[in-house]
Amino acid sequence: MSSIERVTVIGAGTMGAGIAELCATRGVLVKLFDLSAEVASSARQGALARCDRRVEKGSLERTEREAIAARFVNTSDLRDAVQDTQIVIEAVPEDMTLKVKVLKSALEQAPTTALFASNTSSLSITELGSRLGVPERVIGLHFFNPPPVMPLIEIVRGLSTHADVLAKASAFVAQLGKEQIVVNDSPGFATSRLGVILGAEAMRMLETGVAGVADIDRALELGYRHPMGPLKLTDLVGLDVRLAILDHLTREIGEQFRAPVLLRQLVRAGKLGKKSGVGFYVWTEQGPVPNPELAR
Ligand code: CAA
Repeated sequence: MSSIERVTVIGAGTMGAGIAELCATRGVLVKLFDLSAEVASSARQGALARCDRRVEKGSLERTEREAIAARFVNTSDLRDAVQDTQIVIEAVPEDMTLKVKVLKSALEQAPTTALFASNTSSLSITELGSRLGVPERVIGLHFFNPPPVMPLIEIVRGLSTHADVLAKASAFVAQLGKEQIVVNDSPGFATSRLGVILGAEAMRMLETGVAGVADIDRALELGYRHPMGPLKLTDLVGLDVRLAILDHLTREIGEQFRAPVLLRQLVRAGKLGKKSGVGFYVWTEQGPVPNPELAR
């Protein structure tokens, strides 16, 4: 199967920016679209700043850094972003109506051969494909934060996803140097369903005073060799993102996914984790320290 050369990423938030960085690093020309030119531009600058640090450390050649910069284009013009693309990857917030809206616009302007992928963590690929009117061309490509580093991409097959689209997506994941699992469309797929239940239980333990933030995280970091405890990971992913997944899974699967009150309160307070500076931790220049507001 011929390799993918041109990809469009829609949405330059944490995940979209990381997915674009991964593509450019792996030799793919990527156009990162965001309605805000400023957001798209700062995503590109962030990726290149990380490349600069790797050049300083000696883990990246300067010529390769320049090649990555040339392959990473940011734009706020959707036609320019999709007109000759082979794969569109949507990474906008977890709202089905919003996803349908942006992908419909992209669909109207992209080549008819382009494949449409969503980075949704939990929403239905089958519904997305059906609402776009091209269910055979739609698939889930679920990346993990930070996308350039994490080894897995979860491929989600909708009810009507065409076998050729699955094969193309699978080859693309291999081209990106990632491992893959293929799951059938279902609420939260495999990874989010497992991940959020662990995070929610950690929050309930914090609420009921079983232990403090740092000790709950150390339980899994040291006791189970997780690279990051469930509360710190929630901060990395974004408390709002996790809350949206839990609410969706409560509606779709049941009460075991009911979001802890503490999580909802923190989101209402704008304490969204690393991206806002405060969540279960306060993110200082020196690194994360447990949020003193949550000490009991
Ligand atoms: N973007 C790009 N590269 C990054 C990065 C980022 N945001 N953060 C770290 N890196 C790179 C560093 O540049 C470094 O690269 P080099 O080795 O080439 O120098 C490498 O990653 C290691 O970085 P650090 O030494 O700074 O940090 P670390 O060894 O402590 O690892 C971590 C950091 C990879 C985040 C690690 O703590 C980890 O694996 N944590 C768990 C992450 C996780 O579980 N993610 C999944 C979340 S769930 C999700 O995303 C799905 C969803 O639907 C919500």
